[in-house]
Amino acid sequence: MTESGGSTWRSIVSLPVLLFVMAGFPPICCGTQNYGGKPFRDIAKEVASYTDVANKIIDLAVYGKAQNRSYEKLAAFTDTVGNRVSGSQNLELAIKYIYSVLRLDGLENVHLEPVKVPFWVRGEESAQMVLPRNHTLAILGLGSSIGTPKGGVEAEVLVVESFEELKRRSAEAKGKIVLYNQPFVSYGETVQYRAFGATEAAKLGAVASLIRSITPFSINSPHTGWQDYQDGVPKIPTACVTVEDAEMMARMARRGEKIVIRLFVGARNLPDTNSFNTVAEITGREHPEQVVLISGHLDSWDVGQGAMDDGGGAVISWEALSLLRDLGLRPRRTLRAVLWTSEEQGGVGAAQYFQRHKVNISKFDLVMESDMGTFRPLGIQFSGSQQARTIMREVMKLLQPINATALEEHGEGTDINPWMEAGVPGASLHTEDKKYFWFHHSNGDTMSVQDPVEMNLCAAVWATVAYVVADLEEMLPR
Ligand SMILES: *[C@@H]1O[C@H](CO)[C@@H](O)[C@H](O)[C@H]1NC(C)=O
Ligand SMILES: *[C@@H]1O[C@H](CO)[C@@H](O)[C@H](O)[C@H]1NC(C)=O
Ligand SMILES: *[C@@H]1O[C@H](CO)[C@@H](O)[C@H](O)[C@H]1NC(C)=O
Ligand SMILES: *[C@@H]1O[C@H](CO)[C@@H](O)[C@H](O)[C@H]1NC(C)=O
Ligand SMILES: [Zn+2]
Repeated sequence: MTESGGSTWRSIVSLPVLLFVMAGFPPICCGTQNYGGKPFRDIAKEVASYTDVANKIIDLAVYGKAQNRSYEKLAAFTDTVGNRVSGSQNLELAIKYIYSVLRLDGLENVHLEPVKVPFWVRGEESAQMVLPRNHTLAILGLGSSIGTPKGGVEAEVLVVESFEELKRRSAEAKGKIVLYNQPFVSYGETVQYRAFGATEAAKLGAVASLIRSITPFSINSPHTGWQDYQDGVPKIPTACVTVEDAEMMARMARRGEKIVIRLFVGARNLPDTNSFNTVAEITGREHPEQVVLISGHLDSWDVGQGAMDDGGGAVISWEALSLLRDLGLRPRRTLRAVLWTSEEQGGVGAAQYFQRHKVNISKFDLVMESDMGTFRPLGIQFSGSQQARTIMREVMKLLQPINATALEEHGEGTDINPWMEAGVPGASLHTEDKKYFWFHHSNGDTMSVQDPVEMNLCAAVWATVAYVVADLEEMLPR
C-alpha cells in the first residue's frame, strides 16, 4: 500500500454516497426494487443458489488438496526473488517468474502489458548523531529522495511534532535538518509527513528532513515509502528514522540539548524504465468481454521480502483462479487476475492500465484488490451503489462457513481507485490487519508475517466473491 491509498481519495469516493444520503433517498432494504428487471427477492435466491459452489471452493482451499497452497506459492516466490522495487532487476525477475508459473499453472491468456515506471536507486546511506552524543541512527531514505552532496550534510536538528509546530517555528528551520516526530494517528493521516515533510521543510530553508517512521509499533525498525517533491520548491534529501530515535531526539530537544546529525543519502533518480502488469484469465463462457478484475501488486519496497505488501495479495489473486480451474468452474464473465507493477510509487502500473482499458469501462463488472495483508479475513470493503451493495451482502453470506461475511464501506486500493472513481463497483479484502503497519515497508516484511491457514481463508473469500459476481445473470448495477 502506498501513500495515495490514504484519506484524500476516500473522501472523493464517499462523496456520491454522502450526496445520496443528503438528498434523502429512502434506505433500500426490501424486496421491492428491481435489478436487471428482476425483483430483489429473486436475486437473493439466485445468489443463494451458489451455496454448494461456495462450499466446494472453501473445502478445496481450506481443507482439501489446495490447503496451504497460497502460502507455499508465496514462500517459493519471495524466497527465490526477494524484494522487488520499481525499476530494479529483481522486479523484472519477479515478473518473469510469475509469468512462467501462471503459464505452467495452465491459466488462460497469460500475458504481460508494458508500462513505464519510476527508477529510484537507494545507494549507500547513513546517519550519525554527533551531538549531544555519538550514536548511529537506523534510517532508510524515502523513495524519490535526492542524494546528499558528496561528503553528506552535517547540521543541527529542529524537532517538531507537526506541520503546525513547524509553521510556528518557521524562523528556526533555515539551515537545519527538520525532524518530524509526529505521533501515529492512522496511516492515512500520518503518511502526510512522509509524503510532504521534505517539501514543507524545504520551503523554510531546511537542508534535509527526517520523519519518524509511519508505524504504531517498533523494534527500532525504519519504515520507508514514497515521498513527493513539489514543483518550484527546492528538493532536499529525506529519510525516515525509527520511532525510538525520533522520541529520543524529541526528549533531548525538550531538555534544550543541541542535536547535530551527519547525514549521507546516496540515492539517485534515474530515467523511467520498462516494466509490465502481469495478466492471467479464466475466460468467460457467455460474456467473455465482461470482466471481474481481481488483483494485488507484484512490486514491493527494497527491504524485507515484500511478502505481506503485497506478495500475499498478488498470490491469492492467482490462487483464486487456480482454485476455480481445479474445480472446473468457468463463470459467465471473464475473471481476470492483474498483478500490478510499481504500485508503491503511487499506482503507476495501474494508472497506465486504466488509460489503456478504460475504453471498455462499461464491461467492467467489479474491480477487486487485496493490499492490506492476507491475515484472517473478515469479509470485504465495498464501494458501489446501494443496489449493488444489497447484492454483495447476499454474496458475503456464502462465506458464513468461514466467518468472513462482513461487508464494510470503502472499497480501497491504489490500483483499483481509478475504476472506482469512474463509477465501477470496487471491493478490497478486509482482514484482521491490526499489525499490518508494524511490518509495512520495513525489513520485517518477510514470510514470517504470513500464516498458511489465514492465507487459505483469504483465497477462499477471494475466489468465492470473484466467481459468484462473475457468474451472476446480470452485472452489478452501477
Ligand atoms: C498447513 O499448515 C498448517 C499450519 O502450519 C499445518 O498445521 C498443516 O498441517 C498444513 N497442511 C498441509 C497439507 O501441509
Ligand atoms: C562515533 O561513532 C562512529 C561509529 O561507531 C565512529 O566511527 C566515530 O569514530 C565515533 N566518533 C567519536 C567522536 O567518538
Ligand atoms: C475492449 O473489449 C473488446 C471486446 O472484448 C476487446 O476486443 C478489446 O481488445 C478491448 N480493448 C481493450 C483496450 O482492452
Ligand atoms: C467460525 O466460527 C465458528 C463459531 O464461532 C467456529 O466454530 C468455526 O471454527 C469458525 N470457522 C473458521 C474457519 O474460523
Ligand atoms: Zn501495497
